[in-house]
Amino acid sequence: MHAPRAATTWIRHCTLAPVMLLAVLAVLAGSARDSGAAEPADGGSVERGRLLINRYQCGACHTIPGVPLARGNAGPLLAQFGRRSYIAGKIPNTEELLAKWIVSPHSLIANTAMPSMGVTPDDARDMAAYLKSLQ
Ligand code: HEC
Repeated sequence: MHAPRAATTWIRHCTLAPVMLLAVLAVLAGSARDSGAAEPADGGSVERGRLLINRYQCGACHTIPGVPLARGNAGPLLAQFGRRSYIAGKIPNTEELLAKWIVSPHSLIANTAMPSMGVTPDDARDMAAYLKSLQ
């Protein structure tokens, strides 16, 4: 089996072909990761999460980019939270654990100063999607 003539000619003349192929794969892998963070497959909604963070008044304690009234200082700044490796310095920052943290921080760190806010699991999943989208 021969590949079409134009393609073999192109590959023979283009010594950068393997490099370009790797570059394309890297970009594809990167964009897959990015879109996963922004709109996870399980349906967490970034925009709904942003609105919910406002409604639950997380901003009383946290400063959160994209949430205008969130200017609090009692809790940590949540800028670029999607890049953080750990929640509260201890819990791996996966979307699932972040949602769990938002529902019930004490179930993950018994003596944490963050209160449970009466958040439903669905709402927490969307807020986690929003926080993970902050790059
Ligand atoms: C009464 C103040 C208060 C409120 C309200 C509050 N938090 Fe927190 N939050 C904290 C404190 C304090 C910490 C630090 C906890 C620790 O390090 O153990 C924290 C930690 C966090 C962290 C981890 C931050 C980091 O640097 O790793 C996230 C994420 C978070 N809160 C999200 C939320 C969300 C979402 C809401 C709203 C549903 C919310 N918080 C409401 C006080 C608050």
